[in-house]
Amino acid sequence: MDATIQSAPAQVAEPAAIVAALKTNAGNPKGVRASFAKGQCVLGRFTSAREAASVTKSKSFTAPSKVLGRFSVGGGNPKVADSNRVVLRGLSLHIGNGKDATDMLFENAPVHFAKSTGQMLEFLTVRAPGPDGKPDAQKVKAFSAANPETLNQANYVAGKPVPGSFAGVTYFGIHAFPVTNARGLTRFVKFELIPAGGEISLSDEEAKTKADDFLQQDLKARIVGGGIKFRMVALLDQPGDPTMDVTLRWPGEDDRQQVTLGTIELNALSDNEPCDETIFNPGTLAAGVAEPPDEIFAARKLAYAISLARRRSEIAQP
Ligand code: HEM
Repeated sequence: MDATIQSAPAQVAEPAAIVAALKTNAGNPKGVRASFAKGQCVLGRFTSAREAASVTKSKSFTAPSKVLGRFSVGGGNPKVADSNRVVLRGLSLHIGNGKDATDMLFENAPVHFAKSTGQMLEFLTVRAPGPDGKPDAQKVKAFSAANPETLNQANYVAGKPVPGSFAGVTYFGIHAFPVTNARGLTRFVKFELIPAGGEISLSDEEAKTKADDFLQQDLKARIVGGGIKFRMVALLDQPGDPTMDVTLRWPGEDDRQQVTLGTIELNALSDNEPCDETIFNPGTLAAGVAEPPDEIFAARKLAYAISLARRRSEIAQP
């Protein structure tokens, strides 16, 4: 067994190295995102719920606004099949007006696959394609045995059916965000988007019959049919919650007290330009929602900018 795999992951890895590893594992397609490369930009609006103010004073969540969104399929391959059982589904949102805007990025798993940047880089590196185009199964096995929490995300996804529609997915913001309400009370919450029409799933047999872009076709049909709605909620923390480890759910998380922040309604398709020419930046947060203090969040802010710079330069010099 490789000694470097058995040892504890380095504490900190550079976001640039993580972006490079994401690109390597996807086969370095040019001009596209390092992660969630396949997607569709949409437009809509946010309507605030009255109780939102009890959790946060953020004007992004306590006032109505237009919404720019992007539904996506995980991984760095822009041609991935929408029926892929393993990759994540994503939804990015830009809500709020002007300087009071917030970007929130969600995916259909409640945990990330690494608790530190070092562990994330190693997770990706052991999955890099070898000479035969495939990762070394032994290395992956050894790394997983030494870092069992890195399987939490894949195990969650494996336990769920294949999503049958972007509209029928529960999306998780994963990190614990410190929120402050108008009375100055600060606590941690996790954000979730709950589909208004319930979950929509496929059996593995049904998934095999679907076109590679069936999620996009379904999205178009639902938007023509009147749009898609999600309830945005904040799950309230309790003492002792593991707020710094994004590989862990909070105890009894599914039964946590929820505060409804409002409704996201996505009712128009957009050209992809407004989403592709910039980033949904995890660091864009209006006062009242602060940055999660975990190491992974800090790395994300840099990684997204690095990925944007790379895809821009690849588009400029194909
Ligand atoms: C932990 C929770 C995470 C969530 C929920 C998440 C979600 C997402 C989503 C939804 C996108 C697509 C953005 C879009 O639609 O434009 C995205 C892109 C991306 N993610 Fe994450 N991600 C997470 C963690 C990370 C981490 C830890 C890193 C690296 C340190 C990372 C690196 C990236 C990169 C490089 C992109 C492409 C950025 C671009 O070129 O626009 N993500 N992520």
